[in-house]
Amino acid sequence: MEQVPILSLKDVSYRYDMRSQRYALSNASFDVMRGQWLAILGDNGSGKSTLARLIVGLATQESGSIQFNQEVINEQNKSKLREKVGIVFQNPDNQFIGTTVQDDVAFALENLNMSYSDMKQRVFDALKQVDMYELRDKDPSQLSGGQKQRVAIAGILALEPELMIFDEAFIMLDPKSRRELLNTLKSIQRKYHLTIISITHDHNEAVLADRMVFLNEGRVVDQGNVQAMFDRNRDIQPPFAEQFRRELEQRGIPVPNHYMSDDELVAWLCE
Ligand SMILES: Nc1ncnc2c1ncn2[C@@H]1O[C@H](COP(=O)(O)OP(=O)(O)O)[C@@H](O)[C@H]1O
Ligand SMILES: [Mg+2]
Repeated sequence: MEQVPILSLKDVSYRYDMRSQRYALSNASFDVMRGQWLAILGDNGSGKSTLARLIVGLATQESGSIQFNQEVINEQNKSKLREKVGIVFQNPDNQFIGTTVQDDVAFALENLNMSYSDMKQRVFDALKQVDMYELRDKDPSQLSGGQKQRVAIAGILALEPELMIFDEAFIMLDPKSRRELLNTLKSIQRKYHLTIISITHDHNEAVLADRMVFLNEGRVVDQGNVQAMFDRNRDIQPPFAEQFRRELEQRGIPVPNHYMSDDELVAWLCE
């Protein structure tokens, strides 16, 4: 993996109320390398969404700096970020503009000066990736919450941004579609060397990451690769495979003494 950060935060602090001493973020620092999947974890109110809003330029930090592609983000170049960073929030709300699903996804591409056929191709590809192609002629307002969310995700995929941020964006999906969509994202991330930040409570989602950042009360309290993070932070609930491994360990059954993914555990059990 290329060791060039696409995104770099240095000592970023932010508070919603300047009269208060309460910081939503305090001196947050971390890098995201190009092509990496970074998971951000933390309890409710730990500052995850605030962080996302700062990264996409919807808010401006009080101190510290944010660099995108080694360029410091400021008021002048902020607008450029819109094309390069795509974000999907938890609630798809009524952010739909098009009268059909496919129009809605296409709408995001209208400023990109693409030919009609290229645009159509991208929209179709994106809708297929989120399994919404069959419903392309539907009115978005008629869709379920999970379907709306998938259309919002298709809109971001179609834009092919350099960095995609999902702020608890998969919560509305049923477990099966969530798993399928996450697997799709993981494979396109690998294939196209995409950079993804996923903000999540779901540890099964977090294990797809290459790296994790833990926030607590606005501070980055730990960061590292997935295995190291589950090894170091015994209080966070790991995915099933790791829980199972620890259970065996507790019962005195000899198991490898480090974090194992589902696949690793299965391979080990089958030996
Ligand atoms: N619009 C807002 N106005 C005032 N305080 C806010 C606002 N949004 C979030 N906060 C506060 O900032 C802190 C971090 O919130 P947030 O970034 O939404 O956390 P998370 O996404 O991790 O749940 C919390 O204490 C929250 O109450
Ligand atoms: Mg949030």
